[in-house]
Amino acid sequence: MPFSISTPSLLLLLLLAAAAAVAPPAEAQSRAVEPDPTTTPTPTPWPHQFHSLMVMNFSGALQLIDLWYDWPNGRNFNIIRDQLSPTLLYDLEWNNGTSFFYTLGGDSPSCRTAQLEVGILRPGWLEGAAYLGRRRVDGFLCDGWEKADFIRYYEDVETKRPVHWRFYTGREAHVMTFEVGAALEDAKWQAPAYCFDQKEAEEDDESEVRGRSASLCDVRESSCFDPFLSSL
Ligand SMILES: *[C@@H]1O[C@H](CO)[C@@H](O)[C@H](O)[C@H]1NC(C)=O
Ligand SMILES: *[C@@H]1O[C@H](CO)[C@@H](O)[C@H](O)[C@H]1NC(C)=O
Repeated sequence: MPFSISTPSLLLLLLLAAAAAVAPPAEAQSRAVEPDPTTTPTPTPWPHQFHSLMVMNFSGALQLIDLWYDWPNGRNFNIIRDQLSPTLLYDLEWNNGTSFFYTLGGDSPSCRTAQLEVGILRPGWLEGAAYLGRRRVDGFLCDGWEKADFIRYYEDVETKRPVHWRFYTGREAHVMTFEVGAALEDAKWQAPAYCFDQKEAEEDDESEVRGRSASLCDVRESSCFDPFLSSL
């Protein structure tokens, strides 16, 4: 009587499959996504062009950052809004090491420039980061890595998109959108004229030099970059 044996087991299989499809038990879910013990996950390189909206949190002070990463054109743009501030701060970085920090319009448009020894982050800047394991971050199951005791970086296990990163200072980035391939039109990358007729801008002090890359640091933090940049 082959049917009396195979029918219940088939039914069981179907039930199991249905149960798994509807609501995988927490245990099975975490087992299913355990990283392969024979290979350590490595961080996904950044796409050569992307647009991301991020919420930054530094001890409860919130900022919205509109990030345009554009490796083929050697440029990176952070457009920053402090919570409820009417003013945007533009942080435009070129791969030749020149950065412009400026505001537009308003009562007192301003611009500062800085000249750095290094350019923008490479798509593979996370190479060599130490694997931290797998855990839930911002509600997403993520692989995490630590780079140079400076940053902890988490990406979604399934989609490989960045979800969250955190600096050793406690400053956190929450990635809200991540549009691969999105590029800001060329005209928007033009720093305003008043960035180019300030002679004193060449003499900018150290604190401004360190204000590079707001997506990766805080323009007002002073200790972020030296240990990190030298490790990239
Ligand atoms: C911001 O970070 C602080 C800890 O530094 C935390 O207490 C607070 O809940 C965070 N706020 C948001 C909106 O994530
Ligand atoms: C770097 O490139 C930008 C954009 O083309 C330019 O405005 C800036 O003057 C350049 N800096 C140097 C040091 O050549």
